[in-house]
Parts: sequence; C-alpha cells; structure tokens
Amino acid sequence: MKVAFVKPGTAAPGAVAVGIYHGLQQTAAARQFDRQTGGALSRAIAASRFRGAVGEILAIVAPHGAQVRSILLVGLGKMAEFDGLAAERAAGALAAHVLASGETDLAIVVDAPKGSTLDGPRLAAHLANGVRLRAYRFDKYRTTEKPDGKPRLARLAIHAVDPAGARRSHAPLASTTDSALLVRDLVSEPGNVIFPASFAAEAKALTSLGLKVEILGRGRLKELRLNAMLGVAQGSGHEPQLVVLQWRGAGKSGGAPVAFVGKGVTFDAGGISIKPAAGMEEMIWDMAGAGAVFGVMRALAARRAKVNAVGVCAMVENMPGDNAQRPGDVVRSMSGQTIEVIDTDAEGRLVLSDALYFAHARFKPRAIVDLATLTGSVMVALGFEYAGLFANNDKLADQLLAAGLSSGEKLWRLPLTDHYEDLIKSDIADWRNDGGRWCDAINAATLLKQFVGDTPWAHLDIAGMAWTKQDHPTIPKGATAFGVRLLDRLVADCFEGK
Ligand code: BES
Ligand code: MN
Ligand code: ZN
Repeated sequence: MKVAFVKPGTAAPGAVAVGIYHGLQQTAAARQFDRQTGGALSRAIAASRFRGAVGEILAIVAPHGAQVRSILLVGLGKMAEFDGLAAERAAGALAAHVLASGETDLAIVVDAPKGSTLDGPRLAAHLANGVRLRAYRFDKYRTTEKPDGKPRLARLAIHAVDPAGARRSHAPLASTTDSALLVRDLVSEPGNVIFPASFAAEAKALTSLGLKVEILGRGRLKELRLNAMLGVAQGSGHEPQLVVLQWRGAGKSGGAPVAFVGKGVTFDAGGISIKPAAGMEEMIWDMAGAGAVFGVMRALAARRAKVNAVGVCAMVENMPGDNAQRPGDVVRSMSGQTIEVIDTDAEGRLVLSDALYFAHARFKPRAIVDLATLTGSVMVALGFEYAGLFANNDKLADQLLAAGLSSGEKLWRLPLTDHYEDLIKSDIADWRNDGGRWCDAINAATLLKQFVGDTPWAHLDIAGMAWTKQDHPTIPKGATAFGVRLLDRLVADCFEGK
C-alpha cells in the first residue's frame, strides 16, 4: 500500500472517509461534503444509529454526480478525548471496513480537534499509521485464495493542510511500525521455519542498519556456562542461539546501555513434561519476547536513536528428545546458582535466568527490561488487556507504566516481594522452577529477580498480549508485536539523550 499526504481538495477516485466526532459534531470537512452531496450525509446519519463513537463506520454510496465511489463516515469519539491513539483506532477500524470491501483507493479527511495538542501534521501521521497497522496480513502460505476474497487496498491518501509537515511527522511512526510489522511476521512463522538458527539469521541481517550482531552457539554457551538455557535446548535437534544486538547511538559519552532481554522459545512442546495436544500449535509464538527485542532494537537503529542499547534474544526449542532434560534434573546456571527442574514446561524462566545474568554481567546495563510469554498464570490474572509488569525498581516501573499508556501497550504492575521466595526454594538446590499451583506468574518473576543483582530491572509477562484471537482496531487477529511500540516509547521518553 502506498501512503501519500495530499492537500485538501485533491481529487479522490475511490472511497473517501470523513471523520465525525462523537455526538455528530460536524467538522468543516463533513459540512462541506454534506453541501456537495446535497445533504446526503445528514440524511444517512438521520436514517441510522451512527453517533460518532471511535471507529464507528457508516458507508454511503456516493450520490449522483459525485467524483468518488463511496463516502464513509468514520467516528472519532469525543473531541476532548481525541489523541494520536484514538486517531489510529478510528483509522484502523476504517481500514478493516475498506479491506473487506475490495476498494483499491482510500482518502481520509479529518479535521484536527479544536484546542488539542494533536496538530494537523501529527493527526495525519497517526491516521496513516493506524491504517498501516490494521492492513497487515500474514498471507504468504495462502495459495488458493480467490482474488475476489483478497483485500485490494493499494493507495492511501491522507488530506493534510501541511503535507510536508505530515510526512515529517509520519517518518518516525512509520519506521517503528515497519519494525512491528516485521516482528508480526517473525512471530507468525511456524516452528519449522523460525527456529533458533533461522531467527539468528534474520537478526544478522540487521547489521545493514548499523547494529552490531553477535551469535553465540552451543559451544560458546557451554564455555560461558549458560547451563540453564542449554538444559532446555538439549531435547531439541535445533542448536540454541544467544543473539546479542548492540546499538551505540549515544557513543562513548552515552555511558552504560539499557538492556532488553527476550524469551525466544521457537516452539514450546513442554519438553518431557509435555503439553496436551489441544492448542499446542499455539506455542509457535513462544518466541514473541525475543521478537519484541528484535523489533525495538531494529526500530532504534532505523531512527538513529541517541541511546546505547543492547538486545539479548535467548533462542531455544523446548522438545522431548531422548537427550531432553528430566524433571528432577539440577542445573548450575551461569550465575552459579542452582535450579531444580520440577517441570520442564516451565522452561522460560530457566532460559531467562541465564540470559538476564549474561546481560547483567557482560554489559553492566543502567536498566534491564525483559519480555516473555512466560506463564498461563498472568492470563488468568489479567486476561488480554494488560501485560504483567514486575520490577525491583519503582522509577523504572513508573516509566514503563507511562510508556504503556502513551503507546497503547498497557501494563499492570503485580507484586514482587521477598515473601514469595519461600515458594520457589528447593530441598536440594538453591531454587526450583515451579512454585506450585498459585501465583505462578509471581513465582516465575521471583526466580528471574535472582539473576539481575541490583540492576534496575523490570519483567513483562506478555503471555496474554503477544497473540490475539480477535481483531482489534489496529491489530488484526494473530501476532501483535506487543512491546515494540512500548519500548520504543520508553527509550524516547526516558533514555534518549539522557
Ligand atoms: N510458554 C508457556 C506459557 C504460555 C502459555 C504462554 C500459554 C502463552 C500461552 C510457558 O513456558 C509454560 O509452559 N508455562 C507453564 C508453567 C507451569 C508448568 C509452571 C504454565 O503457565 O502453565
Ligand atoms: Mn512451557
Ligand atoms: Zn514457554
């Protein structure tokens, strides 16, 4: 899809979408269309339940004499609440409608809300971004789909009083979205296509953006004694890979980097504690944490962010091979602390305990944020609205909560006090990887906490957020790339140039 920002009044060959605020507050653009069409808009509204809520759509066949094929009224919600995220939601809902209709050309006309901080260029940029986020489709494996069933949207024109300003506002949003869409591809790929080595090869390609990419295979991981990670990998024919991405956008004076660590289980069969067959195919997206790390590092490099950052993606496959680790095994992690493996399906926390310690020991980062599809428990607690946030540092937690609200990738903080340590103490080792029936998301986070020393650290349990079975305004069903926009925002607001 080609995106263009054009002057108001530019002829639109296909569908034209006109924004209307809640309560049918007619904007100048809507009034003008209404006049041009001899009152067709007001008549259509009067004959419907359209009220202008965010993302509400009312389609009108273009009346006689109109240049366009159809007019779509799109609700923008309450004017006082209208911001960049609302613009994206409205544009995303509009995109869904247009994609289903088979239309090839879409123009969007929206007046900025009065007295808002969202100026014309930024509004235009978010509208384009919302359409792009929703128009994403993972269809490389569909070979028999009829052309009639395929979306055909080819050209998007956003009307803006200052097209050049809109283009400038759109550039950083577009590059972060490019990264998020690439991550959706990686997370959508099945386990026979994305496995540790193929993920590493994708990461290697990021060197063209100026990232330094290192890949540590089994030999190097053995030398460095990442035995908790190696234990998970040993049941699989796929070699584990620790992928280390470095971006030094702030140079020497920028000091210690901020570190992002991701769980990259390319398929989680559960190991010897094998999962039930029903739904096991979902575990192709158990590498979404690593995907988000890949995506945020790519985004930072693409927009030349003035920050030093490292990304560590811990890539393994968790399979029940003849050499697989057993329940009851004890592993000596890189940190020296030992962990009794009670349940081989609680593999994420094993992999991350080494990846976190590695990041902490090698880079002495100013902060660490990890992302992991770690527990079913966090979905029981929070469902599909918020990712679980755990932190050993209130300031970092607050910064993340704020970035969550402004990026739309929301977090909810859960407790992480010492009391929970009793639940994961082992009789024969320092820790166990399963704390029993209750509060498993907290138990998992409590284990991770032991591997970051005093470094300000936060853990995001994204199990409920990495994949969606429902369409959302800016996210079609499937991989969400949760974390890319969140962490890009965190860096921009809290770490860049600071
Ligand atoms: N990858 C899963 C968690 C998960 C489940 C993510 C469903 C997304 C959707 C993780 O490795 C796992 O298996 N966790 C177990 C831990 C248990 C065995 C202690 C769980 O949550 O059931
Ligand atoms: Mn598991
Ligand atoms: Zn897992």
